[in-house]
Amino acid sequence: MVIVMAPDAPSDTIDSIVDLVASVGGEAYVTRGVSRTIIGLVGDVERFETLNLRALPGVADILRISTPYKLVSRENTTERSVVQVAGVPIGGDHMTLIAGPCAVETPEQTLEAALMAKRAGAALLRGGAYKPRTSPYAFQGLGETGLKILSDVRAETGLPIVTEVVDASDVELVASYADMLQIGTRNMQNFALLQAVGDAGKPVLLKRGMSSTIEEWLMAAEYIAQRGNLNIVLCERGIRTFEKATRNTLDVSAVAVAQRLSHLPVVVDPSHSGGKRELVLPLSRAAIAVGADGLIVDVHPAPETALCDGPQALTHADLAELAHVVTALPPLVGRTLT
Ligand code: E4P
Ligand code: PEP
Repeated sequence: MVIVMAPDAPSDTIDSIVDLVASVGGEAYVTRGVSRTIIGLVGDVERFETLNLRALPGVADILRISTPYKLVSRENTTERSVVQVAGVPIGGDHMTLIAGPCAVETPEQTLEAALMAKRAGAALLRGGAYKPRTSPYAFQGLGETGLKILSDVRAETGLPIVTEVVDASDVELVASYADMLQIGTRNMQNFALLQAVGDAGKPVLLKRGMSSTIEEWLMAAEYIAQRGNLNIVLCERGIRTFEKATRNTLDVSAVAVAQRLSHLPVVVDPSHSGGKRELVLPLSRAAIAVGADGLIVDVHPAPETALCDGPQALTHADLAELAHVVTALPPLVGRTLT
C-alpha cells in the first residue's frame, strides 16, 4: 500500500501515520520528494484498512498494490482452475456447454429442453426452480416441485443440474438436489447468500451483477472462497449500459480481464446478455473467440409459451447451429467441447 501525502501535509501527520502503522505490526517507509511525500507500507493490508488513514489530514491518496481478493486472485494461484461439476470439468482445455430452459415449467417441457440441450452438446443442464423476477406478478418458479422435476430429468438424461438459489434459507434444500448452485445477477452482492452457498459444499456459478465492476464481482467470489469453497465459476451475463437494442451489453472484455485477474473459470451467458434469440449464436461465437471456458444458454421446445424469457430461448431449429458453434470453434482457440 502506498500513501501519497498532500504537498502541504503537516509533518506531525506523517509521524503519526508511521506510529499508527507500527501499532498494527506494519512498517512505514517515508520518501520525501521535492513537492510531495509518499509513504510505502509493508505488512497486512487488511489491518492497515482498519486505521482509516484516508480520513487523516494531509492524506491525498492511498494506492493498493495487491488485490483485495486473495483467494480467487491469480497473484497467489497462477494456474487457471478447473472446476468439476459432478464429473464434468469447466476450465482448462475444455469448453463446456450448459443449456436448458430458463425456468422449469412442467416435467415434459423440462425433459424436452434437456434433450435439446444434450443434442446441442451440453454436458450440464440449466433450469430455474426459483426465479428472481422484476414483477411480483410474474412466474416465480415451481420451488421444490421444480427441483424434483430437475432431479427426475437428470436421472433420465444423465445431465447434472445447475440451478439458481435466491435466498439463504433455501440453500440447504436447493443443494440437496443441485449439482451446481447458481447465484444470479440480482444477488451477486447478497453477502449472506454468498456465504451460505460457500458453506454448502457444492460448486457455484456466480453471475456478474448487471451493474457491478469486475472487482466487485471478484470480491463476491471471495466471499464464497472465504468459506472454504473454491469451486466457483464466474459468469459474464451482460451489463446495463445506455444501449437499448439489447437487453444487456455483453462485456466480452470482462472475460479476458477476469481470466487475467482470477484463476477461476469464466463462462458467458449469451441469452441473458442479448435477450433476443437471433443474438445468441453471434454472441456465443464471440464468447468462444475471446476464450470463455463455457456457455450457458436458454433453450425451450416452445418459447412462445415460455413462462420466463421466451424471446431469448433457442428453439429446435437453432440446435444444429448451436452444436456447430460449440464443436467447430473451440479447437481454433485450443479447446475442445467437454
Ligand atoms: C432470469 O431468468 C430472470 O428471472 C429473468 O430474466 C428476469 O426477467 P424479468 O425481469 O422479466 O422478471
Ligand atoms: C438465469 O440464468 O436464470 C438468470 C436469472 O439469469 P441472470 O441472473 O443473469 O438474470
